[in-house]
This record gives sequence, structure tokens and C-alpha cells, in this order.
Amino acid sequence: MKIMVFDTKPYDRQYLERENAAYGYKLKFLESKLTPDTARLAAGYDAVCAFVNDDVGAETIDALVDVGVKLIAMRCAGFNNVDMRHAYGRIHVVRVPKYSPYAIAEHAMALLLTLNRHTNRAYIRTRDHNFSLNGLLGFDLHGKTVGVVGTGQIGRCFINICRGFGMNVLAYDPYPVANSDYTYVDLDTLFRQSDVISLHCPLTSDTHYLINAAALEKCKPGVILLNTSRGALIESQALIEALKSGHVGGAALDVYEEESEVFFEDCSDQVIKDDMLMRLLGFNNVIITSHQAFFTKEALEKIAEVTLINLKQYSEGEVLENEICYRCPEFGKGCHKERGIPCFTLK
Ligand code: NAI
Repeated sequence: MKIMVFDTKPYDRQYLERENAAYGYKLKFLESKLTPDTARLAAGYDAVCAFVNDDVGAETIDALVDVGVKLIAMRCAGFNNVDMRHAYGRIHVVRVPKYSPYAIAEHAMALLLTLNRHTNRAYIRTRDHNFSLNGLLGFDLHGKTVGVVGTGQIGRCFINICRGFGMNVLAYDPYPVANSDYTYVDLDTLFRQSDVISLHCPLTSDTHYLINAAALEKCKPGVILLNTSRGALIESQALIEALKSGHVGGAALDVYEEESEVFFEDCSDQVIKDDMLMRLLGFNNVIITSHQAFFTKEALEKIAEVTLINLKQYSEGEVLENEICYRCPEFGKGCHKERGIPCFTLK
């Protein structure tokens, strides 16, 4: 097996190489993102390994198929950047569906605590010998209502953490967890009653701009928004307006709809051309992290482990247990694989 790994950072290489010691596949690491132009570099490779901001659209898929690549191994859970319909029947797509839901849920809570108690500002103040508390007022999370959108693996971990803080939890998910003790409500009720809203659903055509001007209008004044899922769940321009008016009390964003150009990169010596991002960074009640919610040792170990298992299953002709295709109802909620049948067979 020859695998070309795109969009590689030193930590990706370290963890994938360590895991690959047991397999001995030929891994070629590239710093470049996977795009329609770079896809052709994978000529002669069996598989490519890609990440959240790679462009795995129709053009890239055509180029990969053209040069003989048979498998796209996403080293992440989300796959909104893959044109799944275009891939169907032409190239297999696997992912790492679950690596550490705790990593993301814990980061969401870290963001909420930072935003609410202003520890980021306090840290800078005291280092400058400014011991004033003015402007650092927070509120008790205990007794407040958090609305969790998406009760999958991460959403459920986040609910547990919030319950530990004594928060009341409302949940929305079109596929509620059976026999859970969650209080499911419709989205409107969740918007109207939540003090904090945390997004844990995938980005799909249904959830694109789930948080837009109309949704924000329904929210409680002072609502805090947390997004550790995908940037385009929130219409950034609408959020900016709601922050300017003071209707939104704060936003913590680990993802951003136009993140692909800057996130994961050191742009500290460049002029950032994205005005919307710069406007968001200008608010003192907005915290932006660079898609780092997943970034724990445990998550990187699991990502490498499952990616190598996915590659092994492909190389040994086994059913790809982590294959995804557009025919999986709601992408992954039960499909052919459960009956031990591949999503499709390549000609
Ligand atoms: P999951 O598949 O376990 O759960 C997603 C849940 O969202 C499911 O219960 C599903 O029914 C629900 N859902 C689907 N459509 C919905 C809708 N229209 N409204 C509300 N809920 C809906 O996925 P998991 O592992 O919990 O991940 C959630 C998301 O987190 C991923 O899709 C990914 O975008 C994001 N993520 C972000 C990371 C980061 O580093 N910031 C790392 C890993 C995942």
C-alpha cells in the first residue's frame, strides 16, 4: 500500500509514522492541501489521506480517480468537504468516526468557562500587574440552561459535563437518543430558552447557516454561542450584527466558515485579508481557536490507529467498517455495512 498524506503537520506525521511501524505501508507526507491541482501528485499511490480543510470536491475526486487512487482516508470525523455523491461508485471514502468525543466536549466547556469568566483577559492583566476586576464579571453556570444541538457522541459528552456543572440541558436532534433522559425540544424552543447554545451537529445542507439572523432573533438577549462543529453552521455576518447590537453576549468559535485559508497556519507575519474574521477577532466577547478542539494526545493516537486500520481493511479486501457514502441514511446511521456488504464495488 502506498498512501499520500496531504496537509501534514509535524504532529500528524509523528503519530501516523508511529502507528505505521506495525504495518509498514509506504506513507508519503506532503504539507500541501489536497486540491484539484495537487491531487495528481498521488499518481501511483493506492490511497490518499486527507483532513478537514482539504478540498475533496468533484474536481479533486475526478483527478484522483484519473491517476488511479482507489481510497480517500479522511483522518477526521466530519466529511462535509467531500463530495460524497460524486465519490459514489468511483472511489471509496473512509473516516475516523469516533476518536475522542471528550477532547471536543472538554474544549467546548473550556471555551465557555473562558468566555464567561474572562480568564484570558485576567491572565494578561495580572502579568501586566493590573489586578483590577472591572470588566471581568461572569455568571454562575449552575442553574443556567444550555441548549445542545446534536446529541451524537460529542453532544452527549458535553451534556454530561454541563450536568456536572448543575446546568439544565435542553437538546435538539432529528434522531433523538432512544431511552435517554434528555429533554428534547424543537429548535425554536431551544433558541428561546437557552442561556448557552452549543452546536454538535454535522454540517449538511439542512444545517448550513442553522444560526442565521432569524435564529439569533429568537435567542435570549445575552445568549452565549459555542461552535466546535463546523464553521458554516453559523452565518458569520449575522453573528457580527448580533454581537454589535449586544443581543449575543459572547461567542466562542473553534471553527469558522472561511477557516481553510488561515486555520492551522502561522499567519503572524501576514496581513489577514478576511474582513469578517478580523471583525470577529475585534470583539472582546469573542474567542476564536484554530480548530483545535480535537487536539489531544488521545485523539491523535486514536486517529492514527483507526486510519491505519481503515487502510489495512482496504488493502486486505475486507469490508470497510468506517466507509461512508451518500446512501448511508443521514450519513452513517446504518447502511449496507451493517449487513457486511460494501457500500459499492469498484470496477
Ligand atoms: P455524531 O455523528 O456522533 O453526532 C452528530 C449528531 O448530530 C447525530 O446525533 C445526528 O443525529 C445529529 N444531527 C444530524 N442532523 C442534525 C440537525 N439537522 N440538527 C441537529 N442535529 C443533527 O458526530 P460527533 O462525533 O458527535 O461530531 C459532531 C460534529 O463535530 C462533527 O460532524 C464535526 O463536524 C464536529 N467535529 C469537530 C471537531 C473539532 O476539532 N472542532 C472534531 C470532531 C468533530
